[in-house]
Amino acid sequence: MSEVNNNEELALPPQYSRSRDNQVTNNFNINNESSYTQVEPPLYAESTPSDQESDLPQEYHKRRQIQQEENECSICCRDCSPEHQIKGQTAIVTGGTKNLGGETAKELARLGANLFLHYRSNEQQAKDFQKELSSKYPDIKIELYQADLTDDASLKKLFDEAKSKFSNGIDIAINNVGQVVKKPITEITEEEFNSLDSKNNKVAFFFIKYAGLNLNKNGRIISIGTSLLAAYTEYYGGYQGTKAPLEFYSKAASKELLPKGITSNIVSPGPMETSFLLNSETKESVDFFKTVGLHGRLTQVSDIVPIIRFLVTEGTWITGQNIFANGGFTSPK
Ligand SMILES: NC(=O)c1ccc[n+]([C@@H]2O[C@H](COP(=O)([O-])OP(=O)(O)OC[C@H]3O[C@@H](n4cnc5c(N)ncnc54)[C@H](OP(=O)(O)O)[C@@H]3O)[C@@H](O)[C@H]2O)c1
Repeated sequence: MSEVNNNEELALPPQYSRSRDNQVTNNFNINNESSYTQVEPPLYAESTPSDQESDLPQEYHKRRQIQQEENECSICCRDCSPEHQIKGQTAIVTGGTKNLGGETAKELARLGANLFLHYRSNEQQAKDFQKELSSKYPDIKIELYQADLTDDASLKKLFDEAKSKFSNGIDIAINNVGQVVKKPITEITEEEFNSLDSKNNKVAFFFIKYAGLNLNKNGRIISIGTSLLAAYTEYYGGYQGTKAPLEFYSKAASKELLPKGITSNIVSPGPMETSFLLNSETKESVDFFKTVGLHGRLTQVSDIVPIIRFLVTEGTWITGQNIFANGGFTSPK
């Protein structure tokens, strides 16, 4: 997501900004001992630091000196920082052998992460996927795991099995399980509701529970939500209603897991071109979805994977958030 540029200027501490003519401004007026008021937004410029920064805190000068000596970025660009690399770490991805889960797994493999890939229904497809990834990335370890994940015990077992295969533990946990039923509320049966509730709601809760219990320090939890949470629409009430609780589980967990340095976030795609969508929509509804966002097309898996990559690498400061990624389809605020 970010380009490495060792010539890029060092970022200033948050209360300072640099104008286009290279003036450094303290953006905060101190009203009293404990409260600060921002008086103008920070500006970013292409110029280099100058003597005008002599009032900057010692810490900033020290960091800049180290950066110059080592000729590497310290805080402006994270690609080169070891703490943002996931090579050698291990990721669990549920539904991780096809569509969004599969492409996410490929990207994590490319970055050198070991993979514990869950699938539910198609063993042959999962094995073919594992073979393809293993031949492309022979240095990483990839384990497959089949399960229905709709109760507490199955989620506990998912993490137990993963830890038994990877002795260094699990660093990244991505829950991608979901189901959609597109119907008016008046037509949804109890059986359909229970099915939606278990796959979208219950799995989401117990996945986060066991991720919280099992992830290594500074781990990353990502849950896949849906941009439909921000839509005023018919026929998706069952799907929206059973995906919605995830927002509270993920947010609460992000707070509870602060002491372990674990982040918890949601990525919420728009209507995304996979079998999940195409099997539940008509040609007319797909054509409509294409008219409501950027570039006259659906969300692609390749629009979403870089966001997941960012959250597990450079995006370590983001937690408790739900990122709506849909090319302008919906917006929660
Ligand atoms: N495609 C879209 O338009 C769209 C838009 C927004 C959000 N999403 C969300 O994105 C995620 C991935 O969707 P996708 O489009 O990539 O489709 P997908 O491949 O069908 O993803 C859903 C996954 O959930 C698994 N699953 C379903 N029931 C399960 C159960 N009882 N136990 C364990 N796993 C189960 C499925 O496995 P099986 O196929 O073997 O059942 C599948 O791997 C889902 O959470 C979905 O809600 C999709």
